[in-house]
Amino acid sequence: MAIKMQLVLLALSFILPSGLASPSSNGSPEEPIMTLDDDLESSVHIVHYQPEQVHLAFGERTDSEIVVTWSTRSLPPDMSSVVEYGPTETAASDGLRQRATGGATKFVDGGRKHKSQFIHRVTLRQLEPNTSYTYHCGSAAGWSARYQFRTVPSSESDWSPSLAIYGDMGNENAQSLARLQQDTQQGMYDAILHVGDFAYDMNSNDARVGDEFMRQVETIAAYLPYMVVPGNHEEKFNFSNYRARFSMPGGTDNLFYSFDLGPVHFIGISTEVYYFLNYGLKTLVFQYEWLERDLQAANEPAQRAKRPWIVVYGHRPMYCSNENDNDCTHSETLTRVGWPFVHMFGLEPLFYKYGVDVAIWAHEHSYERLWPIYDYQVRNGSLGSPYENPRAPVHLVTGSAGCKEGREPFKGKIPVWSAFHSQDYGYTRLKAHNRTHLYFEQVSDDQNGAIIDSFWLIKNQHGSYEDL
Ligand SMILES: *[C@@H]1O[C@H](CO)[C@@H](O)[C@H](O)[C@H]1NC(C)=O
Ligand SMILES: *[C@@H]1O[C@H](CO)[C@@H](O)[C@H](O)[C@H]1NC(C)=O
Ligand SMILES: *[C@@H]1O[C@H](CO)[C@@H](O)[C@H](O)[C@H]1NC(C)=O
Ligand SMILES: *[C@@H]1O[C@H](CO)[C@@H](O)[C@H](O)[C@H]1NC(C)=O
Repeated sequence: MAIKMQLVLLALSFILPSGLASPSSNGSPEEPIMTLDDDLESSVHIVHYQPEQVHLAFGERTDSEIVVTWSTRSLPPDMSSVVEYGPTETAASDGLRQRATGGATKFVDGGRKHKSQFIHRVTLRQLEPNTSYTYHCGSAAGWSARYQFRTVPSSESDWSPSLAIYGDMGNENAQSLARLQQDTQQGMYDAILHVGDFAYDMNSNDARVGDEFMRQVETIAAYLPYMVVPGNHEEKFNFSNYRARFSMPGGTDNLFYSFDLGPVHFIGISTEVYYFLNYGLKTLVFQYEWLERDLQAANEPAQRAKRPWIVVYGHRPMYCSNENDNDCTHSETLTRVGWPFVHMFGLEPLFYKYGVDVAIWAHEHSYERLWPIYDYQVRNGSLGSPYENPRAPVHLVTGSAGCKEGREPFKGKIPVWSAFHSQDYGYTRLKAHNRTHLYFEQVSDDQNGAIIDSFWLIKNQHGSYEDL
């Protein structure tokens, strides 16, 4: 139903100059309801300098920079944001000898109470490759516990990154979280991709749900780069909780960016700019133009030879076969074909032209693997080996990490382009073995970690599908 409203807005946006079509849903303050909590907040002064919600991201230089982000309710008296760190090998004997400073920004939630907190960000630079670091963060007024992370082995492409990938994980019913924590503590991953929809919702209950979610994922995100893109659940107040809480590279308020990891060029995008046009059209156009430039650069012959895989991830799928009223169950997904009638800013033609190898989505609370597909045409490599030199991108939908909205059923007839689907809660693992071999597997949390699907994507040649 929400989607229909957005289509109306979309239609409006053609008639009205941009900016006028902004009947923002954020506004009208509700009647204040006094609770015990309010009483306490007004009568007792609580200071909160203690860092919490600690999480990591890759910096602008994936191989040597890590950004540490955390929250405090109060700004420490010395107004500082500090990370002390050092190689884990010597941390026990020498302590944390290195020190980096950053800054804090005040974030005010858009909810009735206008809850505020300070988000601290510090970038660690010139880190040694393939090295485990121990760190803590905070200020003279309070330090976090000690955490560890390992830098990537090299800026070259000759190593094999492992990632966990999922979308749609909430505060309530975060069913996959415990398993992800165990995997992380065993050192299984180099990074996590959370493909939109957090907490349900980060702004809920005056952003307390967002705070609790960020505490929940600290158990993985303080140890690994936790790379994110926005989903529809982040929409409130112009995605302000999402934009404030994370620190993705690229300087676009975490909306879109790219980074290199081993043989893979990863690109994270916001599919939501196609849907929430009430916040303006500028970001959609800006992202599209940026994406084309980024894909062009990744396709420079020397670059593509060095780092041949291109993996794009965003929240809402272009294709899905779930039984519901979502955009992807109809043929004309906005992200796929662009704006209705004029067909501008469609992403699928870009993916085809610039040889995107894999497109990973979420939004449906299920897992689905597609045969290689372009414009509803299955373009297998060969009949016997569909994923060996396929003639179109391979799409995956992995939105089943677990949230309070439950599972997304498949009831109707499953289309010919759908290769596998499951309603089990779980997440995807990717191991990028080398320039020719990617391996994907789907973990079922319902089935105690069983691998319910896996496939190899094999390519001897990368680049535009137009030439195939
Ligand atoms: C990274 O270091 C580990 C030992 O700590 C070593 O086994 C591994 O080969 C190194 N990886 C690379 C790519 O150098
Ligand atoms: C929402 O945020 C985007 C991106 O920062 C900005 O360009 C736009 O003007 C904002 N829209 C509104 C209605 O505030
Ligand atoms: C693609 O490959 C799969 C698996 O071999 C097969 O079932 C399907 O029919 C193929 N589709 C086309 C259009 O060749
Ligand atoms: C790439 O990885 C696959 C799977 O591990 C392996 O079979 C293949 O030999 C590797 N290719 C090269 C060039 O190392």
